[in-house]
Amino acid sequence: MAYPIVILGSGRGSNAQALLKAEANKQLGAAKIAAIISDHDDAGILALGQKYQVPAIYIDPKRKGARLSDEAEQAFIERIASFSPKLIVLAGFMRIINHPFIEAFEGRMINLHPSLLPSFPGMNGIAQAFDHGVKLTGCTVHWVTPALDAGPIIDQKEVRIEEKDTLEQLEKKVHIVEHQLLPDVVARLSKGKIKPL
Ligand code: GAR
Repeated sequence: MAYPIVILGSGRGSNAQALLKAEANKQLGAAKIAAIISDHDDAGILALGQKYQVPAIYIDPKRKGARLSDEAEQAFIERIASFSPKLIVLAGFMRIINHPFIEAFEGRMINLHPSLLPSFPGMNGIAQAFDHGVKLTGCTVHWVTPALDAGPIIDQKEVRIEEKDTLEQLEKKVHIVEHQLLPDVVARLSKGKIKPL
């Protein structure tokens, strides 16, 4: 059964690339990346579209700050829906999305977060953990619900923070496990191996 997915991201897109590579290596189960959508016209994530022959679409957020304008949210909803995705993956999408957007896709939208939730939600999850001095952190994939970074957890992968680690080293370590966890979760979802929300 076809399992189209749409990826949303605002930044460099290393997690989108991990998904694209996994698909190319036939490690993404039935999942097929149908489109990449960004709120930044110069985001690295959009450049991946050409490399991997996937539609890469910029939608003007019409606003700076944490939230999209209502008009931009509507444009996101319509563009995403046009691909009839079974799953929407937030991979570094740096906006808080409003209820109509969440409700349009609830049960079909997952988010990648760079900490072991419920610890360190919000922005800069890696730096928050580093500054707090915890010895274990990692990453989480969870269902997106109206509760910010608090939807049911699908899976997590941990990283140990060593005394000698700098913030930059920790960021690299967290990204390594993100690039393993996210494709693994998407593959399992596409095979029906994860309980739906
Ligand atoms: C990832 O570390 C992801 O966990 C984080 O943004 C980064 C995106 O990197 N997401 C959040 O902080 C969401 N609150 P990427 O663009 O290289 O995939």
